[in-house]
Amino acid sequence: MDGNGRWAAARHLPRIAGHREGARAVRRTIEAAIQNNVRWLTLYAFSSENWRRPAAEVMDLTGLLRHYLKNEIAELRANGVRLRCIGDRTRFDPDIQADLANAEAGTSHNSRLNLTVALSYGARAEITAAARAAAAAVKAGTLAVDQLDEAVFAGFLSTAGMPDPDLVVRTSGEQRLSNFLLWQAAYAEFVFMDVLWPDFGAEHFGAALSDFAKRERRFGARPA
Ligand code: FPP
Repeated sequence: MDGNGRWAAARHLPRIAGHREGARAVRRTIEAAIQNNVRWLTLYAFSSENWRRPAAEVMDLTGLLRHYLKNEIAELRANGVRLRCIGDRTRFDPDIQADLANAEAGTSHNSRLNLTVALSYGARAEITAAARAAAAAVKAGTLAVDQLDEAVFAGFLSTAGMPDPDLVVRTSGEQRLSNFLLWQAAYAEFVFMDVLWPDFGAEHFGAALSDFAKRERRFGARPA
Protein backbone atom coordinates (compact mmCIF):
# COMPACT_ATOMS: atom_id res chain seq x y z
CA MET A 1 0.00 0.00 0.00
CA ASP A 2 2.55 2.53 -1.20
CA GLY A 3 2.31 6.25 -1.58
CA ASN A 4 0.86 7.53 1.69
CA GLY A 5 3.89 9.74 2.32
CA ARG A 6 3.88 11.20 -1.20
CA TRP A 7 0.13 11.81 -1.02
CA ALA A 8 0.64 13.83 2.18
CA ALA A 9 3.73 15.66 0.89
CA ALA A 10 1.84 16.80 -2.23
CA ARG A 11 -0.65 18.48 0.10
CA HIS A 12 1.96 19.88 2.51
CA LEU A 13 0.53 17.62 5.21
CA PRO A 14 2.40 15.45 7.74
CA ARG A 15 2.94 11.80 6.73
CA ILE A 16 0.39 10.62 9.30
CA ALA A 17 -2.32 12.41 7.27
CA GLY A 18 -1.38 10.16 4.34
CA HIS A 19 -1.51 7.05 6.53
CA ARG A 20 -4.94 8.10 7.86
CA GLU A 21 -6.21 8.53 4.32
CA GLY A 22 -4.57 5.17 3.56
CA ALA A 23 -6.70 3.58 6.29
CA ARG A 24 -9.79 4.93 4.46
CA ALA A 25 -8.52 3.31 1.27
CA VAL A 26 -8.24 0.04 3.23
CA ARG A 27 -11.96 0.29 4.03
CA ARG A 28 -12.85 1.00 0.38
CA THR A 29 -10.69 -1.91 -0.78
CA ILE A 30 -12.33 -4.37 1.61
CA GLU A 31 -15.75 -3.23 0.34
CA ALA A 32 -14.59 -3.58 -3.28
CA ALA A 33 -13.29 -7.09 -2.60
CA ILE A 34 -16.65 -8.09 -1.14
CA GLN A 35 -18.55 -6.49 -4.05
CA ASN A 36 -16.37 -8.40 -6.55
CA ASN A 37 -16.69 -11.72 -4.71
CA VAL A 38 -12.98 -11.87 -4.03
CA ARG A 39 -12.62 -14.37 -1.18
CA TRP A 40 -9.00 -13.74 -0.15
CA LEU A 41 -7.37 -10.35 0.29
CA THR A 42 -3.96 -9.74 1.84
CA LEU A 43 -2.84 -6.22 2.71
CA TYR A 44 0.83 -5.41 3.31
CA ALA A 45 0.41 -2.83 6.06
CA PHE A 46 3.75 -2.86 7.87
CA SER A 47 6.98 -4.58 6.85
CA SER A 48 9.75 -5.83 9.14
CA GLU A 49 11.84 -3.04 7.62
CA ASN A 50 9.26 -0.35 8.53
CA TRP A 51 10.46 -0.52 12.17
CA ARG A 52 13.51 1.42 10.92
CA ARG A 53 11.41 4.50 10.14
CA PRO A 54 11.64 7.47 12.54
CA ALA A 55 10.19 6.59 15.97
CA ALA A 56 7.44 9.22 15.62
CA GLU A 57 6.16 7.67 12.37
CA VAL A 58 6.30 4.15 13.82
CA MET A 59 4.25 5.45 16.76
CA ASP A 60 1.74 7.05 14.39
CA LEU A 61 1.39 3.81 12.42
CA THR A 62 0.99 1.60 15.49
CA GLY A 63 -1.48 4.17 16.88
CA LEU A 64 -3.50 3.91 13.69
CA LEU A 65 -3.45 0.12 13.93
CA ARG A 66 -4.62 0.33 17.56
CA HIS A 67 -7.44 2.67 16.54
CA TYR A 68 -8.41 0.40 13.63
CA LEU A 69 -8.54 -2.68 15.86
CA LYS A 70 -10.71 -0.87 18.42
CA ASN A 71 -13.13 0.73 15.95
CA GLU A 72 -13.43 -1.40 12.83
CA ILE A 73 -13.66 -4.97 14.04
CA ALA A 74 -17.41 -4.86 14.73
CA GLU A 75 -17.96 -3.79 11.12
CA LEU A 76 -15.66 -6.52 9.78
CA ARG A 77 -17.57 -9.06 11.87
CA ALA A 78 -20.94 -7.77 10.62
CA ASN A 79 -19.75 -7.93 7.00
CA GLY A 80 -18.64 -11.56 7.17
CA VAL A 81 -14.92 -10.76 7.13
CA ARG A 82 -12.48 -13.11 8.78
CA LEU A 83 -9.32 -11.33 9.94
CA ARG A 84 -5.93 -12.98 10.18
CA CYS A 85 -2.58 -11.43 10.77
CA ILE A 86 0.80 -12.67 9.50
CA GLY A 87 4.16 -11.36 10.63
CA ASP A 88 6.06 -11.00 13.88
CA ARG A 89 3.30 -9.68 16.11
CA THR A 90 5.47 -10.03 19.22
CA ARG A 91 7.15 -6.73 18.29
CA PHE A 92 3.91 -4.80 18.90
CA ASP A 93 2.80 -3.54 22.33
CA PRO A 94 0.95 -6.17 24.40
CA ASP A 95 -2.42 -4.39 24.09
CA ILE A 96 -2.18 -4.49 20.28
CA GLN A 97 -1.24 -8.18 20.40
CA ALA A 98 -4.27 -8.85 22.61
CA ASP A 99 -6.60 -6.86 20.32
CA LEU A 100 -5.24 -8.73 17.28
CA ALA A 101 -5.86 -12.10 18.95
CA ASN A 102 -9.39 -11.01 19.95
CA ALA A 103 -10.14 -9.74 16.45
CA GLU A 104 -8.96 -13.02 14.92
CA ALA A 105 -10.96 -15.12 17.39
CA GLY A 106 -14.04 -12.88 17.10
CA THR A 107 -14.17 -13.16 13.30
CA SER A 108 -13.00 -16.78 12.97
CA HIS A 109 -16.47 -18.07 12.04
CA ASN A 110 -16.71 -15.68 9.04
CA SER A 111 -15.92 -16.77 5.49
CA ARG A 112 -17.28 -14.18 3.04
CA LEU A 113 -13.89 -12.48 2.81
CA ASN A 114 -10.66 -13.81 4.28
CA LEU A 115 -8.69 -10.67 5.10
CA THR A 116 -5.05 -11.16 5.99
CA VAL A 117 -3.05 -8.19 7.21
CA ALA A 118 0.74 -8.49 7.00
CA LEU A 119 2.13 -6.70 10.04
CA SER A 120 5.80 -6.60 10.92
CA TYR A 121 6.02 -9.05 8.04
CA GLY A 122 9.03 -10.01 5.96
CA ALA A 123 9.05 -12.99 3.61
CA ARG A 124 12.69 -13.92 4.18
CA ALA A 125 12.13 -14.01 7.95
CA GLU A 126 8.99 -16.09 7.37
CA ILE A 127 10.83 -18.60 5.16
CA THR A 128 13.74 -18.77 7.62
CA ALA A 129 11.34 -19.46 10.51
CA ALA A 130 9.65 -22.17 8.43
CA ALA A 131 13.03 -23.79 7.70
CA ARG A 132 13.85 -23.67 11.41
CA ALA A 133 10.50 -25.25 12.33
CA ALA A 134 10.93 -27.99 9.72
CA ALA A 135 14.45 -28.72 11.01
CA ALA A 136 13.12 -28.89 14.58
CA ALA A 137 10.40 -31.34 13.47
CA VAL A 138 13.06 -33.53 11.83
CA LYS A 139 15.17 -33.36 14.98
CA ALA A 140 12.16 -34.25 17.13
CA GLY A 141 11.48 -37.25 14.89
CA THR A 142 8.01 -36.04 13.81
CA LEU A 143 9.08 -35.35 10.22
CA ALA A 144 11.31 -37.49 7.99
CA VAL A 145 13.68 -35.55 5.71
CA ASP A 146 12.25 -37.38 2.68
CA GLN A 147 8.74 -36.18 3.56
CA LEU A 148 9.75 -32.54 3.28
CA ASP A 149 8.34 -31.49 -0.09
CA GLU A 150 6.90 -28.15 -1.24
CA ALA A 151 3.44 -28.82 0.18
CA VAL A 152 4.80 -29.90 3.56
CA PHE A 153 7.16 -26.92 3.68
CA ALA A 154 4.29 -24.52 2.85
CA GLY A 155 2.55 -25.88 5.94
CA PHE A 156 5.30 -24.34 8.08
CA LEU A 157 4.75 -20.85 6.61
CA SER A 158 2.50 -18.31 8.31
CA THR A 159 0.08 -18.69 5.38
CA ALA A 160 -0.42 -22.43 6.00
CA GLY A 161 -3.84 -23.48 4.71
CA MET A 162 -4.36 -20.29 2.67
CA PRO A 163 -4.34 -20.25 -1.14
CA ASP A 164 -1.40 -18.64 -2.95
CA PRO A 165 -2.16 -15.18 -4.30
CA ASP A 166 -3.37 -15.08 -7.92
CA LEU A 167 -2.79 -11.36 -8.24
CA VAL A 168 -0.41 -8.93 -6.54
CA VAL A 169 -1.23 -5.24 -6.94
CA ARG A 170 1.35 -2.60 -6.09
CA THR A 171 0.45 1.08 -6.04
CA SER A 172 2.37 4.35 -6.49
CA GLY A 173 4.45 3.24 -9.48
CA GLU A 174 6.87 1.05 -7.50
CA GLN A 175 7.74 -2.16 -9.33
CA ARG A 176 9.28 -4.36 -6.64
CA LEU A 177 8.13 -7.22 -4.42
CA SER A 178 9.83 -5.74 -1.33
CA ASN A 179 10.02 -8.96 0.68
CA PHE A 180 6.28 -9.69 0.30
CA LEU A 181 5.05 -13.32 0.04
CA LEU A 182 8.19 -14.42 -1.83
CA TRP A 183 7.30 -18.11 -1.66
CA GLN A 184 3.54 -17.74 -2.14
CA ALA A 185 3.69 -15.32 -5.10
CA ALA A 186 5.77 -17.70 -7.25
CA TYR A 187 3.07 -17.82 -9.95
CA ALA A 188 1.12 -14.66 -9.12
CA GLU A 189 0.26 -12.13 -11.79
CA PHE A 190 1.49 -8.60 -11.06
CA VAL A 191 -0.31 -5.34 -11.69
CA PHE A 192 1.58 -2.12 -11.04
CA MET A 193 -0.47 1.03 -10.80
CA ASP A 194 0.60 4.66 -10.61
CA VAL A 195 -2.17 5.62 -8.18
CA LEU A 196 -1.00 6.58 -4.68
CA TRP A 197 -2.52 4.28 -2.06
CA PRO A 198 -4.71 6.95 -0.38
CA ASP A 199 -6.41 7.55 -3.76
CA PHE A 200 -7.02 3.84 -4.35
CA GLY A 201 -10.68 2.91 -4.68
CA ALA A 202 -13.23 0.57 -6.21
CA GLU A 203 -12.40 1.72 -9.76
CA HIS A 204 -8.71 0.82 -9.33
CA PHE A 205 -9.62 -2.52 -7.76
CA GLY A 206 -11.92 -3.24 -10.71
CA ALA A 207 -9.25 -2.19 -13.23
CA ALA A 208 -6.70 -4.54 -11.62
CA LEU A 209 -9.21 -7.41 -11.78
CA SER A 210 -9.93 -6.67 -15.47
CA ASP A 211 -6.22 -6.63 -16.24
CA PHE A 212 -5.82 -9.94 -14.40
CA ALA A 213 -8.72 -11.50 -16.33
CA LYS A 214 -6.84 -10.89 -19.59
CA ARG A 215 -3.70 -12.71 -18.51
CA GLU A 216 -2.97 -16.17 -19.80
CA ARG A 217 -1.69 -18.20 -16.88
CA ARG A 218 0.46 -21.20 -17.65
CA PHE A 219 2.19 -21.93 -14.34
CA GLY A 220 5.35 -22.77 -16.25
CA ALA A 221 3.66 -25.19 -18.65
CA ARG A 222 3.77 -24.84 -22.44
CA PRO A 223 0.74 -23.21 -24.10
CA ALA A 224 -1.74 -25.79 -25.49
C1 FPP B 1 3.55 2.88 2.59
O1 FPP B 1 3.51 4.21 2.16
C2 FPP B 1 2.54 2.65 3.63
C3 FPP B 1 2.82 2.21 4.89
C4 FPP B 1 4.18 1.93 5.38
C5 FPP B 1 1.73 2.05 5.87
C6 FPP B 1 0.49 1.40 5.39
C7 FPP B 1 -0.58 1.64 6.37
C8 FPP B 1 -1.85 1.99 6.07
C9 FPP B 1 -2.37 2.06 4.69
C10 FPP B 1 -2.82 2.40 7.10
C11 FPP B 1 -3.27 1.49 8.12
C12 FPP B 1 -3.67 0.12 7.78
C13 FPP B 1 -4.29 -0.66 8.68
C14 FPP B 1 -4.55 -2.09 8.38
C15 FPP B 1 -4.71 -0.12 9.98
P1 FPP B 1 4.78 5.12 2.41
O2 FPP B 1 4.67 5.70 3.79
O3 FPP B 1 6.01 4.32 2.17
O4 FPP B 1 4.58 6.26 1.36
P2 FPP B 1 5.67 6.77 0.32
O5 FPP B 1 6.05 5.58 -0.50
O6 FPP B 1 4.93 7.80 -0.46
O7 FPP B 1 6.79 7.34 1.14
